[in-house]
Amino acid sequence: MNTSAADLLLWVAVPYVCLTVFAVGHVWRYRQDQFGWTSRTSQLLEHRWLRWGSPLFHLGAFMVIAGHAVGLAVPASWTEAVGVDEHTYHTTAVWAGSVAGVAMVAGLGMLCARRLLSRRVRLGTDRSDKVLFPLLSATVLLGITATAAHNVFGAGYDYRSTVSVWFRGLFALSPEPGAIAGAPLLFRLHALTACLLFAAWPFTRLVHVWSAPVGYLVRPYVVYRRRAAAGAPRRRGAGTAPGGRRAV
Ligand code: HEM
Repeated sequence: MNTSAADLLLWVAVPYVCLTVFAVGHVWRYRQDQFGWTSRTSQLLEHRWLRWGSPLFHLGAFMVIAGHAVGLAVPASWTEAVGVDEHTYHTTAVWAGSVAGVAMVAGLGMLCARRLLSRRVRLGTDRSDKVLFPLLSATVLLGITATAAHNVFGAGYDYRSTVSVWFRGLFALSPEPGAIAGAPLLFRLHALTACLLFAAWPFTRLVHVWSAPVGYLVRPYVVYRRRAAAGAPRRRGAGTAPGGRRAV
């Protein structure tokens, strides 16, 4: 199949520019703004919506990421080699993907709603949020609409032989724009908004993804010791800073 200039632009130039901005942008942000490298939580400003919205969104996101890792990065021949046939893969992907997508949409809906409806959160919304929230919403909505239209209610679309081939080609430095060029519009729009999201990522609160406190799960216990009983003679100098002040 002949590849048009538009296909080269959309499926080779745009993704590589976005991935380069993603990588270089993270280095720049880390060097320039380490103190701003946070999720910039607004929990103190509003917590009722956040209590439901945040876990729903994050749980859905973890499942969606796992699904994308298998669906995009692993060739169909590999899953077949370990005994997962096309029908089993497709059924699992549609069920798990739908649950994950609905959780993500519901959670993100709540996060967007509180940003619009709570005055305090709205005032704490900066320019990067005004790019991030619409871009994230567009990507997630296009993803779930593509799944629903083609694989839940439609005749079924085998994106693993088109979209996934294009996706892997980018990282193998052997781009295959023709593989995605003929995919249904919703999948193409979803992939494009995802590329733009990757380009915006380093300049937004999404950088917190790379500093999630995972080490907390395995860190050693913090040992607390009871103070010496009141009135008990204290060892001279113990817990005292030079000059007789108490150490803190
Ligand atoms: C270039 C990167 C991406 C590609 C090629 C891609 C491709 C796909 C494909 C093929 C589907 C359909 C899955 C199915 O029908 O079973 C899908 C669904 C979906 N995608 Fe993406 N995606 C990308 C990035 C993202 C990102 C960054 C997000 C979220 C921020 C996202 C969110 C979703 C959601 C919520 C769904 C529907 C639920 C699901 O099936 O998992 N995608 N995507």
